[in-house]
Amino acid sequence: MDDHDPYYYDSDDDGTASDTSEEGLVEVPQDDIPGYFQERDGRLFHSHGSSPYPLPVDADEFHRQNGLNRLLRTLIGDLFVGPVRELLAMSLGEQRRVVDLGTGTGQWVLDMAHEFPHVRFYGVDIVPIATRYPPHNVLFEMHNIMEPFRYQDGSIDMVHARSISMAIQDYRALLHEVGRILRRGGLFVSCEWGRFPAMEDGSEVAIRAPRAHAFFNAIRDTLRVRRGIEPVASDIPHFLEATGQFTNIETRRFLAPVGEWPTDPARREMGREFREMMILYARSMRAVLRDGPFADYADALVEGYIRDISTVSGIVSTCFTVHARRI
Ligand SMILES: C[S@@+](CC[C@H](N)C(=O)[O-])C[C@H]1O[C@@H](n2cnc3c(N)ncnc32)[C@H](O)[C@@H]1O
Repeated sequence: MDDHDPYYYDSDDDGTASDTSEEGLVEVPQDDIPGYFQERDGRLFHSHGSSPYPLPVDADEFHRQNGLNRLLRTLIGDLFVGPVRELLAMSLGEQRRVVDLGTGTGQWVLDMAHEFPHVRFYGVDIVPIATRYPPHNVLFEMHNIMEPFRYQDGSIDMVHARSISMAIQDYRALLHEVGRILRRGGLFVSCEWGRFPAMEDGSEVAIRAPRAHAFFNAIRDTLRVRRGIEPVASDIPHFLEATGQFTNIETRRFLAPVGEWPTDPARREMGREFREMMILYARSMRAVLRDGPFADYADALVEGYIRDISTVSGIVSTCFTVHARRI
């Protein structure tokens, strides 16, 4: 197989694990690519029947994903949390492997592949939106992460899962599958945005930014009722613990300013960019709200949220990170 060829899927994807040898993978024909998308309300969405994922997959969304990738790198101070450098250090005769779940535009994988050229990266998504011409150490694959992976037991060094909480209904089941493919001592690294904003000074967001609060309440209820998606960001450490497959479970929280209210110039710039990303998010969520119990208020909720993040000082979003070792 030519490493520079584009998307692949497991030709005998019968729900059983195969291997990491990349045999049996079939290139997605160019002509089939439009079939992975469908248009609604002037936006492009995935067409996968069983995925509850609600966000579009078009140019605005790519801009948002790549913008967040940059922002998170600044916020966290690196591309990841945890002992990733030690884990991925070159070791003679051993091929290190990293799987990125719900890879999206694949920007995280591409940044990592540049920094760790000796490591093999697999970026997995239900839509072919990552580059068709990845570097030699990257393979972008089409796969539904709600189903078993093709990788053998214990064959993967690290699994990375960032911003996938809306891509799956059963995060616990996903963690069991992650535990299956990770080798002993392998690392799971996750990063999820909390579904609710907060105030930096700890005051009540419902009072200080009531329209932002109403918007996220409506999103939470709509996702729950229409798609069976729960906000799981702060529960992932407990889920990991409950599998009995992980140890050294470490969590961190990073607060990102939303808006240009910080006085420190670097944080102010971050807040400006982050607000831009949140405006894109809110506009993408309009279609979700239109298809649920708040349909009549969808426009007002979106516009109200945008107004709050443009006028209220002190709003922050929380990024929850977790890293844990496979026992
Ligand atoms: C919010 S994006 C995050 C992208 C990337 N992880 C990042 O942090 O930039 C979520 C991605 O999950 C993908 N996705 C949604 N449901 C999925 C599923 N069932 N299996 C695989 N990928 C899925 C979407 O297509 C989208 O690209």
